[in-house]
Amino acid sequence: INTLLICGGGGSEHAVSLRTAAFIEEQLGKAADIALMQVEMDASGCLTDREGRVYHIFYDRKIRDEEGNAWAVDYVIPAIHGYPGETGDLQSQLDMFGIPYFGSAPEASKLCFNKINAKLWLSALGIRNTPYLFLCSFEPSELDRAYAALETWGAVFVKASNQGSSVGCYKVTSPEALKAAVEEAFSLSPYVLVEKALEARELEVAVYTYHHELIATRPGEVRAPADTFYTYREKYTESSRATTFVEAQGLTATQLGWIQEVSIRTFKALKLKDLSRIDFFLTEAGDLYLNEVNTFPGMTPNSMFPKMLENHGHNFTQFLTSLIRAAVS
Ligand code: ADP
Ligand code: DAL
Ligand code: MG
Repeated sequence: INTLLICGGGGSEHAVSLRTAAFIEEQLGKAADIALMQVEMDASGCLTDREGRVYHIFYDRKIRDEEGNAWAVDYVIPAIHGYPGETGDLQSQLDMFGIPYFGSAPEASKLCFNKINAKLWLSALGIRNTPYLFLCSFEPSELDRAYAALETWGAVFVKASNQGSSVGCYKVTSPEALKAAVEEAFSLSPYVLVEKALEARELEVAVYTYHHELIATRPGEVRAPADTFYTYREKYTESSRATTFVEAQGLTATQLGWIQEVSIRTFKALKLKDLSRIDFFLTEAGDLYLNEVNTFPGMTPNSMFPKMLENHGHNFTQFLTSLIRAAVS
């Protein structure tokens, strides 16, 4: 099965995507029936292989180099966090060309990637998520709403609506810092979220299809050091002081049940496909909130999705190859 792994992309998570792709490449190396070809997309959308050859996709389900040599593509893995993969744009093109791919379709991808859309949907579905407001412009009247939210909540998270890996995400505890954070966030996205900052444990659940069955694992936990939050640095760099637990300890049966039920309900209601990682907060008072839905979670050596899948007794190579085989058969 000719499988094209596309990584990189035009967003702020380009480097993270390369690490995810390296993991997928390693896993697919174990599958004899998968012929993998990998290309990296740069910020202008140009695709190159490791030798620097440039390619064009996709009409008649082929990828071509600049000399006109063509390779058939049976399946695509859009291993891109953020634009244009996790946002669903690349998948729209793949749909148009009739090429099956790993992960959610364009609409579900777009819906989940935009943090405001996702929250509006979750609220409409009656799924508890962190209190928030959203700002549509960097104007004094909008900023005043953010100041009021900070006063009410004491501390807030200001977030660009369309980023991941904690890019454009700032914890703000003083009015002096608020304006700069909102301005920074607006430099990255057209809408901005202001969320109540919770003092809470962070739980993550891998939700995926394994041999036609929808699975939600037991929650894992990520713990950032007390003086910060789960920032890009704590997620990916060598100086990270964060710790991760493939299974969170000390949760009650009721809490586990709620997380399980909400994870499955969210996956189905938002029409996700193949894989996702759904993240939660658990406060000291025992209240649970859904934080976010990731349609293409990180698969770097520090990332939780593959670890939780394996801890659930599943094999990552089998997970991926069975989806590929089913999609092309
Ligand atoms: P991203 O898509 O960039 O991962 P998140 O919404 O998950 O964005 O925020 C990144 C991190 O910021 C979270 O993992 C958490 O550590 C912290 N965080 C975000 N929102 C809140 C909140 N409302 N209360 C407490 N911590 C938060
Ligand atoms: N956006 C990163 C890759 C994640 O959520 O895992
Ligand atoms: Mg997150």
